[in-house]
Amino acid sequence: MATATAFDVTAIRADFPILGTTVHGKPLVYLDNAATTQKPRQVLQVLADYYESSNANVHRGVHYLSGRASDLFDLARDRIARFIGAADSKEVVFTRNATEGINLVAQSWGRANVAAGDEVLISAMEHHSNIVPWQLLCAEKGASLRVIPMSDAGELDLEAFGRLLGPRTKIVAVTALSNVLGTVNPLADMIQAAHAAGAVVLVDGAQAAYHLPVHVQALDCDFFVLTGHKLYGPTGIGVLYGKAARLEAMPPWQGGGDMISSVTFERSTWNVLPYKFEAGTPNISGAIGLGAAVDYVTSVGMERIQAYEQELLAYGTEALRTVPGLVLVGTAARKASILSFVMDGIHPHDLGTIVDREGVAIRTGHHCAQPVMDRLGIPATARASLAMYNTREEIDALVSALHTARKVFG
Ligand code: ALA
Repeated sequence: MATATAFDVTAIRADFPILGTTVHGKPLVYLDNAATTQKPRQVLQVLADYYESSNANVHRGVHYLSGRASDLFDLARDRIARFIGAADSKEVVFTRNATEGINLVAQSWGRANVAAGDEVLISAMEHHSNIVPWQLLCAEKGASLRVIPMSDAGELDLEAFGRLLGPRTKIVAVTALSNVLGTVNPLADMIQAAHAAGAVVLVDGAQAAYHLPVHVQALDCDFFVLTGHKLYGPTGIGVLYGKAARLEAMPPWQGGGDMISSVTFERSTWNVLPYKFEAGTPNISGAIGLGAAVDYVTSVGMERIQAYEQELLAYGTEALRTVPGLVLVGTAARKASILSFVMDGIHPHDLGTIVDREGVAIRTGHHCAQPVMDRLGIPATARASLAMYNTREEIDALVSALHTARKVFG
């Protein structure tokens, strides 16, 4: 493909075996990447190799295989630390997913630092994962959950944010990129303002990590979470990044093997970072697979991925506007390649079913963000979310399927 960015999408597609699949007799057009991305051979091969030649438990054995598995596991952590711009690998805690990272912070940091009368500040465009853990904490502590409002276009009201920040704000927990609207939030300014008000900042990077370059030290966030399966890696593995000083000061969350330094019936002491937060046998293959995924996207280049996806977004935005009765939901000035929409007289679930018959996979519903739907006064949207392997031709296939739906429903 000859574009200004010289992005070879054909070569990239060849790395993803599932993209050659047919569904309902049609070539698969996979546009549900915000739910999960597909996996390149480079990740699949590493997973198979691990189980074929290196499988053992980590940090527990003196035998050869245990040493090998431990080395691969630790190397994956180093790669991920570099990928997100952490100062040290010990700031990278493996979790099951982004949700678990947020729950860890809410339960460990939150229980120790949030008291009655304090406030937790989130935004109107959060995924349930960045709402419910804070509701649980606030209910337990007698704290209040406050919400930064957003415009109809899906942009946060930064003046209101400034007014909401105050001496009671203990933490600001905000998404880098909305999974429904595609909005990219102005994190650097928000983090600076939150810190100036004395608040700690957690960034939900579940969507951002596969669309944008991320550098946690440049952002200066206190915590950052991501999930492996959206970053072309396996399911069941995620990352919590925390500044070392914050993580050091936090009590453990879950107890068990590997998170301890010593155990007696009278008292236990805790392991060093990051192991203090990794109770039990971790998802070893998942971490190694995520390390391979990070290597893969690094070899393509996050800046190049972002530039290519921006071209797709511009093309897709214009193409969708040709469909009669289609209204885009989420029109922020800074967006990633997520296209939510509704269509006059057709329920999103019906749309999803019709386009599926044409081989096109999109997501429909509230996308685990019911407050976004409530704010916009709609029950659901259809959502096409684009990744580095998608093409203009695939967007054309979606648009053609939507024209078919229009004909069916009149
Ligand atoms: N949070 C994921 C989505 O937006 C699952 O689809």
